[in-house]
Amino acid sequence: MVFKVGLLGLGTVGTGTAKILLDAARRHPLLETLEIHKVGVRSLDKPRAVDLPEACLTTDLEAIVTDPDIDIVVEVIGGLEPARSLILEAIEDGKHVVTANKAVISRYGNEIAEAAKKAGVYVLYEAAVGGGIPVIQPLQQALGVNRIETVTGIINGTTNYILTRMESEGGDFAPILDDAQKLGYAEADPTADVDGLDAADKIAILASIAFGGKIRREDVFTEGIRNVSASDVNYAKTLGFVIKLLAIAKRNDDSDTTIQLRVHPTLVPLNHPLASVNDVNNAVLVEGDPIGRVMLYGPGAGEGPTASAIVSDVMAIAATLHMESPAEEKLPNPLLSNAYSDYKTISPMEDLESRFYLRLMVKDKPGVIGHLGDIFGQHGLSLESLVQIGLQDNLAELVIVTHEVKEGDFQKALEILKASSADVDSIASVLRVLG
Ligand code: HSE
Repeated sequence: MVFKVGLLGLGTVGTGTAKILLDAARRHPLLETLEIHKVGVRSLDKPRAVDLPEACLTTDLEAIVTDPDIDIVVEVIGGLEPARSLILEAIEDGKHVVTANKAVISRYGNEIAEAAKKAGVYVLYEAAVGGGIPVIQPLQQALGVNRIETVTGIINGTTNYILTRMESEGGDFAPILDDAQKLGYAEADPTADVDGLDAADKIAILASIAFGGKIRREDVFTEGIRNVSASDVNYAKTLGFVIKLLAIAKRNDDSDTTIQLRVHPTLVPLNHPLASVNDVNNAVLVEGDPIGRVMLYGPGAGEGPTASAIVSDVMAIAATLHMESPAEEKLPNPLLSNAYSDYKTISPMEDLESRFYLRLMVKDKPGVIGHLGDIFGQHGLSLESLVQIGLQDNLAELVIVTHEVKEGDFQKALEILKASSADVDSIASVLRVLG
């Protein structure tokens, strides 16, 4: 069974989506059942970063959303129109839709959901919030049994990048925004990001799912970061806070209907989990009963991460299409099955490379360190650092960190060290070092 995908847009996210769909090896087997049928582009002549058959490309987006061969339409052109109309046309034509369009979903999500319900199709938008971070699906499914109390997000990478730099450099907003634009971290028109509008779109979407109700996009209180100054950042730091643009959706105590919904720069205590979310990264902290706190963290934008979220939605739809297939091809839900056919081969531990931390007690006499160095050198072990911590009872306590070395070589050197009783008194500890 093969399901056909029509891709609207071949910009950054569209290109990333096509790359994943064209290279299914070592990904979920469901991806083997997906085929790019048509790709809608603005111009046929542009050079492409992905290798697609010429016949796939068309400038006629309407033809894609009404193409009888297409099962799933992926909308990644962005903006309100024609994206909204194309999504609605695709739905009306009986197609499932995947979109990354937070502007459309936060404003027209209700209209789109009604149309999808009427047509009996799915509209999924994992990529609309948090880029590559799975957040919509976890809120709906894995965390869905919880009574959600709060969703607090750093869900705009551009502003998080600017605030992180203001914090680390002590600089002011305007020159850092200017530099971020030159470096490609901020758009030429930064309004949607720095004025909090993008984060407001995203928290409206999250709130609707977390609290199970319609949200009017215009109800989100929104304040951006233009007025945050270097002195504010500095004073906040002195007081033990970091300033972050937070998007907050909170259920009022004991209320089924009333929530708070806001985006604004906020002083976050340094020991709060969101305080260490820096640069362009995003994170969403979900608090619920009975789970407590869960934080979802990762890349909030970019070709690969956003495409990952898009294709995960396409795959979820493919799973339902498989279950609706004619009886002879019908599968149990492939996303709920963990029946694998082959064993994986696990590499022997001695072949793995790692850095090592070694604490040992050695005799306090001349030549000991030279001798240890010889043993390490003979086994191809290079030292990153060596510190003598102190002396006790004629023994010196040494701490060594190695560069990356094969576990097998390290263990051989260790055996020789253990046997070198003239120099080594004891090996106090051996630990592997990450990274
Ligand atoms: N402009 C957004 C951000 C990325 O800076 O996070 C896309 O949602």
